[in-house]
Amino acid sequence: MKSSAPGKIILFGEHAVVYNRPALAVPVNQVQVDVEILDSDSAGVWIHAPIIDLHAELSTLQPDHAIGSVILKVLSLLDTSPSSTNIQINISSTIPVASGLGSGAAVSVALIRALSSFFSNPLTDNQINELVFEIEKLHHGTPSGIDNTVITFNKPVYFIKGQPIETFTVGKPFTIVIADTGIPAPTKESVGDVRRLWLKDNNKFENIFNEIAQISLIARRSIESGKPELLGDLMDHNHSLLQQLTVSSPELDKLVLSARDAGALGAKLSGGGRGGNMIALVNQAEASQVAESLIKAGAKNTIITEIK
Ligand code: MEV
Repeated sequence: MKSSAPGKIILFGEHAVVYNRPALAVPVNQVQVDVEILDSDSAGVWIHAPIIDLHAELSTLQPDHAIGSVILKVLSLLDTSPSSTNIQINISSTIPVASGLGSGAAVSVALIRALSSFFSNPLTDNQINELVFEIEKLHHGTPSGIDNTVITFNKPVYFIKGQPIETFTVGKPFTIVIADTGIPAPTKESVGDVRRLWLKDNNKFENIFNEIAQISLIARRSIESGKPELLGDLMDHNHSLLQQLTVSSPELDKLVLSARDAGALGAKLSGGGRGGNMIALVNQAEASQVAESLIKAGAKNTIITEIK
């Protein structure tokens, strides 16, 4: 049994989305997690995840182990006792860890999908989404749920916390360059810091969140009506508001500036910030030129993706 799940980027609205403002996110299918489940001759549940150098039997892992705890949760939901199960779980991934591309949520989605199908009890996308949200809460404190939603449904989403999922259509395809600072994005920390600042200066932060909400709304309209070129200015504006939220960093700012210098129509950090990825809107013909400039400016990796 094999299952996979894509990476994701947030186009607009990160952080504000935690405070019930809308945000836009899209799957990134150039990177993905693959999970394979096989019957095994060895006793127990054996996990092989070379990306994190994990080769272990489930019962030898701490109960709160990031991958082990997901497997335990799913097996218990499926009424399957781990001690009487002989399987091998192979996990591979091309999504960089802690880069803001949703690697953790993607591992959970692919694992739950593969395990539930293997035990002939495939869960629906809604069930998977809810379960992964519970897992995200254990690791990230107060997540909005946008990451698990876009990754589970593998569709562009216009997301408002607690509301039924809404997808959006892309009137005219557009190209995004994603660049990784190579610095781990401490999402839990940046979300916590924004919360502390919001508690201290409620008015100021509510106003910033409202401005970001406006940007997400206009961005959705521009995308749906086939005017993606309007997204450049919106990205620049969203980035400056994220700077005010204190979640940018010198490395992210440097990549954002160099993308603009190299001809991008706009650029911003994407995800939790402080590290992780930034994104730039480009004309398709200039995508490689912008990607090369980003590498020269210190990016560890770039991905060119077409949003359609
Ligand atoms: C992380 O990908 C996006 C944040 O808005 C946190 C969240 O929505 O849970 C920073």
